[in-house]
Amino acid sequence: MNTLPTIPADRLPALLRAMPKAELHMHIEGSLEPELIFALARRNGVAIPYASVDELRRAYAFTNLQSFLDIYYAGASVLLKEQDFYDMAWAYLLRAQADNVLHTEMFFDPQTHTARGVAMDTVVNGLHRACVDAREKLGVSASLILCFLRHLSEEDAFATLEQALPLRDKFIGVGLDSSEVGHPPEKFARVFARCRALGLHLVAHAGEEGPPEYVWTALDVLKVERVDHGVQSSKDPALMRRLAQDRIPLTVCPLSNLKLCVFPSLAQHNLGALLDAGLMATVNSDDPAYFGGYVNENFTQTFAATGLTARHAYMLARNSFEASFVDAGTRRGFVDRLDACLASFA
Ligand code: HPA
Ligand code: ZN
Repeated sequence: MNTLPTIPADRLPALLRAMPKAELHMHIEGSLEPELIFALARRNGVAIPYASVDELRRAYAFTNLQSFLDIYYAGASVLLKEQDFYDMAWAYLLRAQADNVLHTEMFFDPQTHTARGVAMDTVVNGLHRACVDAREKLGVSASLILCFLRHLSEEDAFATLEQALPLRDKFIGVGLDSSEVGHPPEKFARVFARCRALGLHLVAHAGEEGPPEYVWTALDVLKVERVDHGVQSSKDPALMRRLAQDRIPLTVCPLSNLKLCVFPSLAQHNLGALLDAGLMATVNSDDPAYFGGYVNENFTQTFAATGLTARHAYMLARNSFEASFVDAGTRRGFVDRLDACLASFA
């Protein structure tokens, strides 16, 4: 779209909700709502240290990434059977459809499950079946990205990759998540090199709480195609120039950053500054069941707090398709649908 139609400011929240978008940074285990945690705990006979859904929800008061991860891994302990993984992913995919997500690339953390004795097949087959059904029954395109837990060793990541390779056609790439500070990207240089040789897409969390140096090494050592979060990059002008020049996508998660105290308020979030510096930023939900909202809530709350405009909305939605790992024809179809939506709001 060459010239953006004029869209009245009072129509902006409706546009944010209606516009077709891709979601590129969400952890499927972070979509487990408290109600589903309790239902699966009952179904599987797993004890959880909370008396009720309300008590569990009240525990979602985080001070930093680690305080969240402790509860997030505890919540995932109710997942045992293939159907549990299917049900979790299906619930998210229904919400994604409601938010006009045309395409989603979902992270999963196999080590969280295999360490408890759940087989890799159980995890991947359950999630993948939900992706197949989403395309057929919801018209939502969905794929999977396997994340290595960075607080564990590179040797453990290699073992996880070996377990997953028989299922190679069911995931499109690998990522790096969990506790960032003290676990720099270069700790995983060899396993990422192996994944690259295998033709897998590469992404990594960097610059969420960690310093800009971690974004540099994610790019230069791991050779990632996208940076997850990356918001600390604004502290390093040379890094900002690099990200803009190479059109490296950042998958930004505003409500996550707010809930994990990365920014003191949404009004002080740097999403607008990243876009205005020419970076290819996108908006995503990260762990929507824990951080107070799915992707449309991230859009509407952030725009309300920061005064971003319809032009920014279009850039963010367009970036989400440009940054996705779909083929060129599919991407063109998505952007055409976005442009048609914008035109209908003029
Ligand atoms: N950062 C790191 N690891 C994670 C996150 C996150 O935001 N969410 C789930 N695992
Ligand atoms: Zn994340």
